[in-house]
Amino acid sequence: MNDFFQTDIISIRDFNKEKLETVFSATDKIIQMNPNERRELARGKTLGYLFFEPSTRTRLSFQAAMASLGGTSLGIADASSSSTKKGESLADTVHIMSLYSDVLVLRHPLDGSSRFAAEISSKPLINGGSGTEEHPTQAIQDLFTIIREKKKIDGLKIGVAGDLKYGRTVYSLLYALSNYNVDVHLISPESLKIRSDSTYDIKKRLKYKESSSLEEHIDEFDVLYVTRIQKERFPDEEEYLKVKGSYTIGLDLVKKMKDDAIILHPLPRVDEISTDVDETKQAKYFKQAQYGKDTRAALLALILNENSF
Ligand code: CP
Repeated sequence: MNDFFQTDIISIRDFNKEKLETVFSATDKIIQMNPNERRELARGKTLGYLFFEPSTRTRLSFQAAMASLGGTSLGIADASSSSTKKGESLADTVHIMSLYSDVLVLRHPLDGSSRFAAEISSKPLINGGSGTEEHPTQAIQDLFTIIREKKKIDGLKIGVAGDLKYGRTVYSLLYALSNYNVDVHLISPESLKIRSDSTYDIKKRLKYKESSSLEEHIDEFDVLYVTRIQKERFPDEEEYLKVKGSYTIGLDLVKKMKDDAIILHPLPRVDEISTDVDETKQAKYFKQAQYGKDTRAALLALILNENSF
């Protein structure tokens, strides 16, 4: 039996290197698989999605992944059109969805929401983004992109720039990277530094230094991971306005990067990467989004099939 069969995916902290590599190798197989063979992996199965925050990539890539495996999807893309608007609890909503589906994906603004929902659900539940806490399937696609583009993770120098305080993708990325031997440089405005209470336990395993200047170090990175300032999570708009537009990657900065460096971004972007960077060979963020569908298909196939494929 494969280790993922009928399991919840709540935190990337639950993944060691071996588990990550199981998903990467399943993704390689999914990409190479004949479409007819792939459509057998979730034939007759249903993905139930519950999105209490906006999403383009996560929800649609899960739906596209499920369709590519021969399954179907149903769900709530906008909480205001569901019975939560009438006061129904998250617990009841998850309970009902688990009656109609074989696997669930939840995105919710509260930290801890996925762990709570997994206790209610009778079906495996995947965290599609929980508050400022985690976005585990994003980290899987991020690391898969690095492996595909750089052929390795160990030994890389990785810059992570932007909103490190509220960006949940950053936490999942760092937890996942702590399984590898990498040199991480965190770059943010002072007020958006990484939350030490969320990283104290990986400090022994992950080497990282912190600063506020991107330009000073941009020529050192093999991977530059850029994040959006998470406007919606600031308790005070004044504080957001102070850091808005702190970093913008334009062609001037890309020219200073290593020739074979790659730029990643979980997306959506606002103004952190100018659109003329999209045409450079360093820009890999759309490819990263494409791998989101493949890695999620692999994860769904592993959760729904007892035997490896
Ligand atoms: N990266 C990501 O989570 O994008 P969405 O918010 O569009 O799902």
